Amino acid sequence: MAIYPGSFDPITNGHLSILRRALTIFDSVTIAVAANPMKNTLFTLEERMELIRESTKKDKKVFVDSFHGLLVDYVKRKETNVILRGMRALSDFEHEFQMSLMNRKLRRNIQTIFMMTDYKWLYTSSTIIKEAASYGGTIKGLVPDIVCQKLKEKYGYES
Ligand code: PNS
Repeated sequence: MAIYPGSFDPITNGHLSILRRALTIFDSVTIAVAANPMKNTLFTLEERMELIRESTKKDKKVFVDSFHGLLVDYVKRKETNVILRGMRALSDFEHEFQMSLMNRKLRRNIQTIFMMTDYKWLYTSSTIIKEAASYGGTIKGLVPDIVCQKLKEKYGYES
């Protein structure tokens, strides 16, 4: 089992692509939503989890959970040592490298597995999608339909 942690504010098709591909390697994946990420979130923890549940409900090998505090402590509680992270461009590399080294410093047996994003999602992130959506830009095809709808509600526009 792998733990796929993140803010997921909100989940995107890029996240779902990594998840689907990871399920060809791992027997199950638990998406672990950070309760208190370093950034302020648009969606509450419960909203972020609900959007993930909705977007993955057909897959019996996907579990949705949340965690407070250190990721490595959560991973230990789940009795695994595998953290899954998606990687896009080189710009992700430094931060991901830093986090994986820190996590391994905190807990020696942690292994972070990186999967490269599909080229289709290379330029997308939850942040840039929220920015486009906040100005009424079309984000169809970049996020699950339910997320598209919720973003419209949050930003109060119709398209
Ligand atoms: O989707 P994100 O925002 O890139 O996810 C980052 C996240 C939530 C995985 C990372 O910030 C995290 O693990 N936070 C929990 C605290 C922690 O363990 N930090 C890393 C070691 S200091």
